[in-house]
Amino acid sequence: MQSTENMGVRGRQCVMCGCIVGITEIATKCPQSNTYQHIYVQDYVDHEGSTSIIFSLPEKVGALAEALKVFETNNVNLHHIESRPSLEDKDCYEFFVSCDNVRGGLYEAIDILKGRTKNLQVLSRNPENKKDEADSGVEVPWFPRKIRDLDRFANQILSYGSELDADHPGFKDPVYRTRRKEFADIAFNYKHGEPIPRVQYTDEEVKTWGTIFQELTKLYPTHACREFNHVFPLLIDNCGFRENNIPQLQDISDFLKDCTGFQLRPVAGLLSSRDFLAGLAFRVFHSTQYIRHGSKPMYTPEPDVCHEVLGHVPLFADPSFAQFSQEIGLASLGAPDEYIQKLATLYWFTVEFGLCRQEGHLKAYGAGLLSSFGELQYALTDKPEVRPFDPQKTSTQEYPITSFQPVYFVADSFDDAKEKLKAYSLTIPRPFSVRYNAYTQSVEVINNKEQIINLTRTIKGDLSLLEDALQKVNRL
Ligand SMILES: [Fe+2]
Repeated sequence: MQSTENMGVRGRQCVMCGCIVGITEIATKCPQSNTYQHIYVQDYVDHEGSTSIIFSLPEKVGALAEALKVFETNNVNLHHIESRPSLEDKDCYEFFVSCDNVRGGLYEAIDILKGRTKNLQVLSRNPENKKDEADSGVEVPWFPRKIRDLDRFANQILSYGSELDADHPGFKDPVYRTRRKEFADIAFNYKHGEPIPRVQYTDEEVKTWGTIFQELTKLYPTHACREFNHVFPLLIDNCGFRENNIPQLQDISDFLKDCTGFQLRPVAGLLSSRDFLAGLAFRVFHSTQYIRHGSKPMYTPEPDVCHEVLGHVPLFADPSFAQFSQEIGLASLGAPDEYIQKLATLYWFTVEFGLCRQEGHLKAYGAGLLSSFGELQYALTDKPEVRPFDPQKTSTQEYPITSFQPVYFVADSFDDAKEKLKAYSLTIPRPFSVRYNAYTQSVEVINNKEQIINLTRTIKGDLSLLEDALQKVNRL
């Protein structure tokens, strides 16, 4: 904010970017003296990528100063601020703030303000994307830049907890519905970085899990891919994978982090494809924690803990598969809607229902197969059609979601599938490239020369390490 010594000055140069700014006068009413206090701040004129926020504050001494302190402590630059008596609440003032996220604390500031102000609205959520748009003329949908940004959409779910369809096996069971609500609440209140709450599963839930565990583990040695069977015993040893125990998501998440950096995050219901895929870009897998209804242990109309833990988890511990999954996620960031649909289809035919060929035999690596006793057997018979994995063709293949798949796609290896997917992602029209920075757990958008030079330096550093290691190995 402009200091008071600049009161009355018009048309000064902004110290941040050099653009010409003016001075705005804001009047706030002092409740004690019943007079108006005047604040003067810089007018925002032409900063690129500003975010505008509107919020209301009760009319009391220090309320505004407290709110502005939140921006300051989170390193958010304010460009412009206005106020007026709230039209909706006569005891409140409404504030309009324009700011930037150059130093990266804006989202944290918004989260804090949400708890301290009323009716907070963010008018442009993604200043970085706005800039991408300005540079290229292409509109870019919002996407998370930091792993913590996943908190922003984790609760934008298509259904919540106890809201079951009429044909769901648990629809008429009030105890099951209450239980589902408990699981949904855990996920709803979860924030990145917190431990995933441990769940005391009931005897009936453990029995349902045990039935599925027993049947599926009979098939894995012959039907699952090599990588899956390599990891599964490690999950028994490290994460409590047993017939009489439903593993805890936090234990699994810790294990995966040690193996590949993947981690689990509880989710209350189905996310949109865009949001779900975005999680994979950060090596985060949104996992349900509830279990299917006990009346039909071999059927579930939606993902449950059996599907996630038995189907998905083992391969997230495999480095090549983890990279492949992350590639789908990175390709989805800022992609147009039609490509999100195509990437979701690729996800379906690989991560959910993928087959691969090993030692001349078809094996399953998709979680939808590895968590379904019936379809796992069916997929490896000669009944379904089998085609080679080719992202251009696979991405447009239609598929049923309530019956066994009539067509499966076969990958030569996870590395091969990854390379094909990388090549495919280059065809997605985006005005930038993205790169995941594991040190900061953030996505870097590469769209200017300076970033490319910095990236070249990083790669050069890695190459000299390789050269050094190679020379040392050759001397042995
Ligand atoms: Fe799944």
